[in-house]
Amino acid sequence: MPLAFVTSLYFDGLPPWFPDPYRLLKVTATLTTLAATKWYTSGRRNPSERNMHGRVVLITGGTSGIGAATALALAQRGAQVVLLTRQPASDPFLVEYVDDLRRRTGNQLVYAEQVDLADLYSVRQFATRWIDNAPPRRLDMVVLCASAMVPPGGERVATPEGVEGMWMVNFLANFHLLGILSPAIRAQPFDRDVRIVVPTCSSYIASPKLDVEAMGRKGWLDEEWTPARAYARSKLALMIFAKAYQKHLDAYKRPDQLPMNARVVLVDPGLARTPGTRRWLTRGSLWGLLLYLVFYLLVWVLLKSPTMAAQSLLYAMMESSLGRGAGGRLVKECMEVDCARKDVDDEDEAKKLWEASDKLIERVEKEQALKRARAKKEQEKRDEEAKNAAQVEEIESLIGSIKKGKAKEAKEAPKKGGKKAKTAGNNVK
Ligand SMILES: NC(=O)c1ccc[n+]([C@@H]2O[C@H](COP(=O)([O-])OP(=O)(O)OC[C@H]3O[C@@H](n4cnc5c(N)ncnc54)[C@H](OP(=O)(O)O)[C@@H]3O)[C@@H](O)[C@H]2O)c1
Repeated sequence: MPLAFVTSLYFDGLPPWFPDPYRLLKVTATLTTLAATKWYTSGRRNPSERNMHGRVVLITGGTSGIGAATALALAQRGAQVVLLTRQPASDPFLVEYVDDLRRRTGNQLVYAEQVDLADLYSVRQFATRWIDNAPPRRLDMVVLCASAMVPPGGERVATPEGVEGMWMVNFLANFHLLGILSPAIRAQPFDRDVRIVVPTCSSYIASPKLDVEAMGRKGWLDEEWTPARAYARSKLALMIFAKAYQKHLDAYKRPDQLPMNARVVLVDPGLARTPGTRRWLTRGSLWGLLLYLVFYLLVWVLLKSPTMAAQSLLYAMMESSLGRGAGGRLVKECMEVDCARKDVDDEDEAKKLWEASDKLIERVEKEQALKRARAKKEQEKRDEEAKNAAQVEEIESLIGSIKKGKAKEAKEAPKKGGKKAKTAGNNVK
């Protein structure tokens, strides 16, 4: 049969049902280009493995996109995953999410704790609870995946405490969290390979210079504020802080005189199809969503899946060479790369940023503490007034019933008197 077909090809040429070879070539070339592009844009897979069993990992943003894919991979490897979420742990959706993660991975050591990164008080409450534990709790990793991104054309958003939204969630909250957790990180035994994984974004390259002196009382208020500038600036600040935090850890003299065993690793996961990116691309509009769906094939080809974007984060957690030598390295596509901006390593800039952030937090926390104290006082006053009003009402109703009782008695008294007189009269008869 094949021989007959080949002979007919030789003598008669291609059969009429055979597709046009030129078109076939075009289709094959297109599919090959698409496959090659997809393979390239998907990035590298994490080649490193490390026993994660029982390691305690704090992760922010573990409910969506790259953070969710990272949390899943960690739970699959048996790590104790503590998801820091803005919702309380009792939130029905979160309960279902945690249950699902436990069921899918067969790992019961997945928990959620509430930390709203848009609220400095919430960050402080969680972090102080964590470090108040005696003896210090085991902590192997802190992974900072949460981020806020206002879509292009969006308005400047401030947190309830009045801080610029992206500055707060992407930088200040992480600064605050790591600042308070610092004693817990430094207290880990020397044989523990502790890592602080800080996802960043190549948009930091386009950030305006971080002129901290120009920073407003509560974040950036400059007239040139745009979502892209604010996001890039928050990521640049996060990177400068991450490098400075490594120096802060290294400067610590351990009681056992051994070198610091905690390392910061910066990670650029690359562009991925996450809910955050979708909101950014669609500008949060229905028309945008429609266009997104129409061009989904293009998005699928050009952007990584969250699982592939998580590979560089997993590499940062598991690669043994990153657990030795200097910390503060940047990882992209599962390999170490250089930072594209020199000011990321600028110590003066880092010092200014650190001091300005400390001041900002102190000011906001004082204002909020005063507000809370005032609100508590007012609430106490309202409660007292309500209690007094209830007491007055109770006394009034008591007086009312006494009066009613007396009035009834007074009404019944003549009747009783008449009856008595009647019976007395009858007795006389
Ligand atoms: N996606 C990309 O293309 C890309 C590219 C480069 C770098 N990155 C970086 O990778 C990381 C993950 O990005 P992603 O796109 O996967 O993020 P995402 O899908 O937008 O998810 C953001 C996460 O942050 C959490 N979050 C936001 N505000 C919070 C708050 N106030 N308190 C607590 N949690 C809060 C969200 O919680 P809810 O679930 O409650 O909303 C969500 O889990 C980010 O640091 C991002 O900058 C991403």
